[in-house]
Amino acid sequence: MEAVSTLVRVSLPNYLKGLPIPNSFSGFSRLSATDWLSLVPFVGTVSLLVYVTVQAFNPNLRKQKNAINPDIQKDCPKVVHMADIEDLGDKVSYCRCWRSKKFPLCDGTHNKHNTETGDNVGPVVLKRRGK
Ligand code: FES
Repeated sequence: MEAVSTLVRVSLPNYLKGLPIPNSFSGFSRLSATDWLSLVPFVGTVSLLVYVTVQAFNPNLRKQKNAINPDIQKDCPKVVHMADIEDLGDKVSYCRCWRSKKFPLCDGTHNKHNTETGDNVGPVVLKRRGK
């Protein structure tokens, strides 16, 4: 803990005091190449911290992370397909993994998804009695 305390109370303030940060924006134009080079680690660290913070609190990223549907009709607020029960034939398989290229019908892509993720999703199969 002593090392952390020294870093925060002594080393970091001394490092920041040594940075060639000008008093005005126009002062940046008078910095030498060596001054700019000494600012690179500081600017890089601050940029990384800002990026990580923004990513952590970005509600759109959190929404996408929890989404079930990765890419089918993402421009629609809700994906709905209707089928006439008379047109279903003897047997039809509907995708429940949201990865089929023939969505809403299953094309077997769930097998690849299950292998890659350890998931266990599969289609809902509708069939006529006795078929
Ligand atoms: S492809 Fe999605 S359940 Fe088969």
